[in-house]
Amino acid sequence: MNLNEIIEHRRNVKPKFFTGETIPDSTVSTLLSSANWAPTHGFTEPWRFVVFSGDSINSLASFQSELYKSSISKELYKDLKYEKLKINPLLASHIIALVVEKSVGTKISLVEEIVATSCAVQNILLSASTQNIAVHWTTGGMTYMNEMKTFLGFTEKDQVLGFLYLGKSPEHIKKEGRRLSTIENKVIWRK
Ligand SMILES: Cc1cc2nc3c(=O)[nH]c(=O)nc-3n(C[C@H](O)[C@H](O)[C@H](O)COP(=O)(O)O)c2cc1C
Repeated sequence: MNLNEIIEHRRNVKPKFFTGETIPDSTVSTLLSSANWAPTHGFTEPWRFVVFSGDSINSLASFQSELYKSSISKELYKDLKYEKLKINPLLASHIIALVVEKSVGTKISLVEEIVATSCAVQNILLSASTQNIAVHWTTGGMTYMNEMKTFLGFTEKDQVLGFLYLGKSPEHIKKEGRRLSTIENKVIWRK
């Protein structure tokens, strides 16, 4: 496949479609190496990744589900959400927490560092797609809570962008992509 085809065929695959197969750490390292080639304003290279595998996935699952339980009001609490936060991570071979470490003493804004890190994440997604690794990007957990930043080893100035759940899945190649609107509706040409 050429690059355009790789981009077009990349799909988000939910963990319920994962086979349970373990991905070698070395393969995950390859994906992370691609991330490091993202563009970066002022070379702040703000992307940080916390990689969970093995027992540490259980810790993440317990942490996020208990954080949900303790931080939500009784009226809004949903058993199903608690169970999903606790069980879904266990379906993944690896989970990569996506973090922007805001640079200190530079003129580069948090927005720019979020954008640079998003480019790094796309590199991971495309690299994974070429290696038949299924990826689910989720922000559905406790992504935006300060407690999560602390759990991951970061501080309030930093920004968590979510989690990539990695696995093997036949859905990776089967799934049809869809967009609600064509690119023509999103582009203004001025000549
Ligand atoms: C910033 C971001 C956050 C996302 N969060 C979630 C999420 O919480 N749950 C989910 O099911 N998918 C999430 N996704 C994945 C999208 O659902 C998915 O990209 C979209 O359905 C388009 O499908 P495709 O990536 O296969 O083209 C997220 C994607 C992005 C870019």
